[in-house]
Amino acid sequence: MKRVFSGVQPTGNIHIGNYLGALKQFVELQEDHECIYCIVDEHAITVPQDPKELREHILDVAALYMAIGVDPKKSIIFVQSQVSQHAELGWVLCCNCYTGELSRMTQFKAKSGGNESVGTGLLTYPVLMAADILLYDTDVVPVGNDQKQHIELTRDIAIRVNNKYGKTFVVPEGRFMKEGARIMALDDPEAKMSKSAENIHSRISLLDEDSKIKKSIMRATTDSDGEFRFDPVQKPGVSNLLNIYSAFSGVSVDEILAGQNWRGYGDLKKELVAVTQEALAPIKKNYEEIRHSEELIRVLNDGAERATAIAQPVMQRVRDKFGLGLGR
Ligand code: TYM
Repeated sequence: MKRVFSGVQPTGNIHIGNYLGALKQFVELQEDHECIYCIVDEHAITVPQDPKELREHILDVAALYMAIGVDPKKSIIFVQSQVSQHAELGWVLCCNCYTGELSRMTQFKAKSGGNESVGTGLLTYPVLMAADILLYDTDVVPVGNDQKQHIELTRDIAIRVNNKYGKTFVVPEGRFMKEGARIMALDDPEAKMSKSAENIHSRISLLDEDSKIKKSIMRATTDSDGEFRFDPVQKPGVSNLLNIYSAFSGVSVDEILAGQNWRGYGDLKKELVAVTQEALAPIKKNYEEIRHSEELIRVLNDGAERATAIAQPVMQRVRDKFGLGLGR
């Protein structure tokens, strides 16, 4: 069975972009893969976090994993910092990665804004992500499009180490959705939907109430030509709404367009409101049941143990290849 690894940052506001680009795949893959899903708290502290809020968000994301259908009997769910090998391998990989490679990462450039007094962790962020993936001999990494460059870097590092030290790592592949891989902001369809945008109507969070979902979609930016056409360049707003519709309903954009009899964008939006509300209702219900349960903590502690059992021998392999420590 192929092994899958992915992670989400515990930073609140998990939105439909995260869900349609990545989380939805987590559920599909667990049927015929060995899946490991992580809450990457060490990535979260690359920018300042309130410690109390961070702890809450770790549990929020864990509960969301389960609420969308990740089954702890089939998949491992755990918190990154509970498995110390992530940080350890991160260091080893830092020593096999070039500063030039890291400063070229678009996400680093966007987050640092060219400012030199940003945390070093923001620069080395993708190396820790590579460590997450390589630590589990991962074959497949389900993520949104924005992580493509980080997956490429992970592959480059793995191949580099394998060439230099002999076969050490499995070289992983990214897995991207056709429709949900890049969900754009509702208020600005040229920018990707993000957790941190100031305007709450730019995104739909998975736990948003129906009235908020309606408000955000009904005021989404479209265009003025009134044509129903999928054209992300000329018509990014309408195309984004069609994408979301397709990703939630499982019906292709072509079929949606062929079957519609909308009189204006308002009709498309109303249908999309209903589709979105219907898709998120069971997630919200499950979440409420799980979030404050004892079960959640048990799942995470058990997950950390199972993850460690896989990570430990891989880390020992790395130590042996690099000549670290005294050997066995
Ligand atoms: P994060 O927490 O920013 O996002 C979680 C997942 O959601 C995807 N995503 C999107 N997909 C479609 N449209 C969007 N607008 C959108 N915004 C976010 C992301 O691509 C991601 O899959 N670096 C990762 C976390 C990470 C990780 C890893 C992932 C750390 N280690 C190892 C995979 C494997 C991140 O920041 O995700």
